[in-house]
Amino acid sequence: MKTRLAGGKPIDHDVVLLGCFEREAPELGGLPGPVAAAARKAADRSGWKGSKDQTSTVHVSGKQATSVTVRGLGKRSDFDRRALKNWLAAALGSVAQDGLKRPFLGLPGHETVAGVGGGLCVFREAALFGYQFGEYRKKSKAPRLRDVTVRPPAGEEEAYQEGRRLALKVAAGIGTTRDLANTPPNVATPVWMAEQARAIAADRGMEITILEPKELEERGMGGLLAVGGGSVNPPRMVRLEWGQGERSVSLVGKGVTFDTGGISLKPGANMDEMKFDKAGACTVMGIAQAAADLELPYRFRAYLPLAENMPDGKAYRPSDIVRCYNGKTVEILNTDAEGRMILADALAWAAEEKPDDLLDYATLTGACVVALGHYGAGLFTHQDELASELLGAAASADEYLWRLPLWPEFGEEVRGLHGDLQNLGVRWGGANSAAAFLSNFVRGARRWAHVDIAGPAYVGRSNKKGYGSTGYGVGLTLAWLMRQAQGA
Ligand code: BES
Ligand code: MN
Ligand code: ZN
Repeated sequence: MKTRLAGGKPIDHDVVLLGCFEREAPELGGLPGPVAAAARKAADRSGWKGSKDQTSTVHVSGKQATSVTVRGLGKRSDFDRRALKNWLAAALGSVAQDGLKRPFLGLPGHETVAGVGGGLCVFREAALFGYQFGEYRKKSKAPRLRDVTVRPPAGEEEAYQEGRRLALKVAAGIGTTRDLANTPPNVATPVWMAEQARAIAADRGMEITILEPKELEERGMGGLLAVGGGSVNPPRMVRLEWGQGERSVSLVGKGVTFDTGGISLKPGANMDEMKFDKAGACTVMGIAQAAADLELPYRFRAYLPLAENMPDGKAYRPSDIVRCYNGKTVEILNTDAEGRMILADALAWAAEEKPDDLLDYATLTGACVVALGHYGAGLFTHQDELASELLGAAASADEYLWRLPLWPEFGEEVRGLHGDLQNLGVRWGGANSAAAFLSNFVRGARRWAHVDIAGPAYVGRSNKKGYGSTGYGVGLTLAWLMRQAQGA
């Protein structure tokens, strides 16, 4: 949705929406007399406290088309980024529900909404409000807003201008990730995904390489070939390169365009969700788009292993031994543990080019969803400093991220019998043994982190309202990159 920084008159909007903390008067600085009077009246109503999402509306006198709604933000001391996000979604949602199109939004001063970071959050949520994947249906479902005008808290005008500039690019990246991940697998084949990457690259002068099966064979990328072997939609490996800077950052994203499990076939229930098994690749594409548009000062590379995991006469099978790009052999014990096989080749290629930081995103394990629910992602890294950087960035971007251990015992689980490795550990701690497996393919990178996004990457059908890709990971990664670039 369109967003604007307040410049025009609030009276020209069909509703003035003012956030107000519990037991505080609304902040009215700069609002014209009749609007301020209506706001005061709304907050003077008996029973009005400003508790979370409590509302009180008063028409602006002489201007029946405009009203002022004060909406409670709850306790000042409880207000954080998550509360801000929920409040904005609820507040804009009810404005849209009332059939109003152009809210004017004012928030009181608070550290959560202060500075460039605060402005970024407010504008990012506003810009993403009303996102819909409407590509394949005639009618749009939810009532929509035309635009949102934001009045910055007092003294934050410049910070908000910059925050808005950043937010629009971050939101566009998140939108790209969602659109890609939501695209159904009969359209979003590995070749289609590679073409989308080509389009993103072409618009931004990125260098792009797309490897076809013959080249995968020549380079010895046996993991990706094995996983993609059972599908009529052949696999691809994409490599992107862009940007300038001292530090090099490489991103890898799991791109399984559909995961049936292969010969180790999944049960039928909810298998439709496996269209989101390409979410890691989509996350990296969204990050790449935004990082390039923001001209973040790094030397970037991105690697997208793309394959469809299908059962077939040509499909790989349990007990096959596959040789990956770095020469390590893997005995396949379950063809449904395919993500680590395609990541093995991509990580090994990325690590060979010796980046400072190597990050991968993957809907890798159901076990990670068991551990953390759909709320957050699992973070695995050997480097404490990288962990704290990423955890801090995630908190500032309001994405839940939780560190899980890479104990050596998990590495022992995936040591092979007839191969160097096997693609399956024991049942317990499945997210950890998967991460330990990946750690065999990252030599060469100075630091490495794996983010298991199986939980937060998408919302399932049971939640009709939020169904689809969330774009998780784009916000936290861009926040990390921006913070690191400032030396923060
Ligand atoms: N794509 C799945 C993981 C997944 C599960 C993502 C649920 C999103 C929601 C992955 O390829 C997979 O099948 N993992 C197996 C690994 C097992 C065979 C070791 C799993 O989690 O069961
Ligand atoms: Mn699988
Ligand atoms: Zn998978």
